[in-house]
Amino acid sequence: MAPTGVQVLKRAAKDAARVVAPPARVVVRGAVTRFPAIGPRVADWGWLWQPGWSRTHHERFYGAAEDPYGFDTKPFERMKYDELLDALPEGRFGRALEVGCAEGAFTERLADRCDVVVGADISEVAIERARRRFAGRPGVELQRRTLPLDFPDGAFDLIVCSDVVYLWERGTVEVGLRRMIEALRSGGALALLHYRGRFNQPVHADEVHDLALRLGAEAGLVHPTGYVHADVGPHGSGFRVDVLVRPA
Ligand SMILES: C[S@@+](CC[C@H](N)C(=O)[O-])C[C@H]1O[C@@H](n2cnc3c(N)ncnc32)[C@H](O)[C@@H]1O
Repeated sequence: MAPTGVQVLKRAAKDAARVVAPPARVVVRGAVTRFPAIGPRVADWGWLWQPGWSRTHHERFYGAAEDPYGFDTKPFERMKYDELLDALPEGRFGRALEVGCAEGAFTERLADRCDVVVGADISEVAIERARRRFAGRPGVELQRRTLPLDFPDGAFDLIVCSDVVYLWERGTVEVGLRRMIEALRSGGALALLHYRGRFNQPVHADEVHDLALRLGAEAGLVHPTGYVHADVGPHGSGFRVDVLVRPA
């Protein structure tokens, strides 16, 4: 079937964005570095920071069905969450940030170990569902935010990123990891978990984690936990877990 006029226009806009994005990214990132207050205003320019995985994409995805990833139902996701919790340093945490908290499936587990969990997600639909899940429960703050440019204020004792950072383009991954490392309090931990398959994401899990280890070492963080759980998950691709800690 021949493409409609709208489809042709959309295709042309996507092609143009691909050409214009790299130089525009340099200019806009430079402006944000000089004037950080601009960050939240340009955070949702997905064609620059996470092409193919923008806010519009996520709103549509969550809008189509509840729990579209099956975070509350799939045994693989449960196993992932069990391992992520086990990988965290022992004891309770004061203030935690969960980047890309979706509808709150992992947040619920995390909340039992923290005084306050800030759950942030790019999707308003996902965050609204998470708000319903936690209605009336103290210690859980749910915020619609596009990280890393719209990063919450303050420092954290724990930052968790599960299956999210590889949706950002390479430079944004670096900006985001640096921002998270900076936001760790003394004794605070950054916990990363990413699925090692390829699904047309901008950056592979191993590149995210290798970069985090390098930036963490430069910032004086230690690396108490790091491993690959092979042969599990979709296509048996496995996942990788790394935890970095700022010495107290
Ligand atoms: C694959 S899901 C992972 C959800 C959850 N962290 C887990 O592992 O179960 C990725 C989540 O990150 C969110 N997300 C994507 N880009 C984001 C961004 N730039 N800032 C905040 N959340 C984002 C998506 O809406 C989605 O809920």
